Amino acid sequence: MGALLEVQHLKKYFNSPKGKVHAVDDVSFVIEQGKTMGVVGESGCGKSTLGRTIIHLQDSTDGKIIFDGKDVTNLDKKALNTLRDDMQIIFQDPYSSLNPRMTIRQTIQEPLKLSGKFEGDKLEEETERLMKLVGIEERLALSYPRELDGGRRQRVGIARALALHPKFIVCDEPVSALDVSIQAQVLNLLMDLQESEGLTYMFITHDMSVVKHISDNICVMYLGQLVETCESDELFENTLHPYSKTLLSAIPTIDIHAKKKRIPLKGEIVSPIDPKPGCRFAARCPYAIEGCHAPQQLEEVLPGHFVSCCRVREINHLE
Ligand SMILES: Nc1ncnc2c1ncn2[C@@H]1O[C@H](COP(=O)(O)OP(=O)(O)OP(=O)(O)O)[C@@H](O)[C@H]1O
Ligand SMILES: [Mg+2]
Repeated sequence: MGALLEVQHLKKYFNSPKGKVHAVDDVSFVIEQGKTMGVVGESGCGKSTLGRTIIHLQDSTDGKIIFDGKDVTNLDKKALNTLRDDMQIIFQDPYSSLNPRMTIRQTIQEPLKLSGKFEGDKLEEETERLMKLVGIEERLALSYPRELDGGRRQRVGIARALALHPKFIVCDEPVSALDVSIQAQVLNLLMDLQESEGLTYMFITHDMSVVKHISDNICVMYLGQLVETCESDELFENTLHPYSKTLLSAIPTIDIHAKKKRIPLKGEIVSPIDPKPGCRFAARCPYAIEGCHAPQQLEEVLPGHFVSCCRVREINHLE
């Protein structure tokens, strides 16, 4: 299958009193139809901004977004509305994204009604279909969000996202706010829906075990930039970028014999405001040398495995 989404040199800057926040700074990647691209990185590295910019919840500063073979970077209002049906988002906190005064049925019906495509029996049928699809019991139709547990609330959020048969969904930390016992159920639901509805996901998380479980490919972000991207298995077996190594070393393990040492990170995350050229991780990197202050390029170091680090070969004893 071909690419559903292609992002080329995407930038999203915000103006702040202190300067320009380079939230997303020249990011390029491709997501194949029906696959899941995991996006990981510390808080503030630009994961949500990347997702929100791609689905046009905010304008991009520069770069290109190609979706389903079409350049959708700049669209008029009508084209944007059509695109909104195709690209959806599931948020971390289902509670704050649901209207507390609407019943579950009304909540799920809202996007259907707004589309103008459903009314009367058809609306009721479609509501029922969506509730079934995400596993919300019919008896809950007249309940309010506060009466549901977190897992069910997130199922309602998923039903809303799926209402208009999207092709692409940004899942922005969709299970991070849920109890661990419920996380797996919601993840499994998302994976089942991907299969049955033919969905393509961008899955944002800071939880490395979640991303390993769900992703086909992974992008590791640091301060608005990609530092490493490849297939998920490859990233976990063969982590090449110093930042990814520290990120992956932080996964808790239940194997008491595993000798994996947690690599501590020195220094603070530098500011994304008017960053200097050169590797943004250098200030915290145990391998940093003078040359790291020159601009870095994402480079195919092994087949399909891209890394942005001028010392990557040396550090990993490649060649
Ligand atoms: N509307 C905005 N105006 C100004 N700065 C913003 C805005 N939205 C995000 N930022 C800044 O952009 C950077 C990236 O933020 P973003 O929310 O995308 O990070 P994130 O990786 O999603 O973090 P988290 O893991 O905490 O959700 C941060 O420095 C943030 O302060
Ligand atoms: Mg975020």
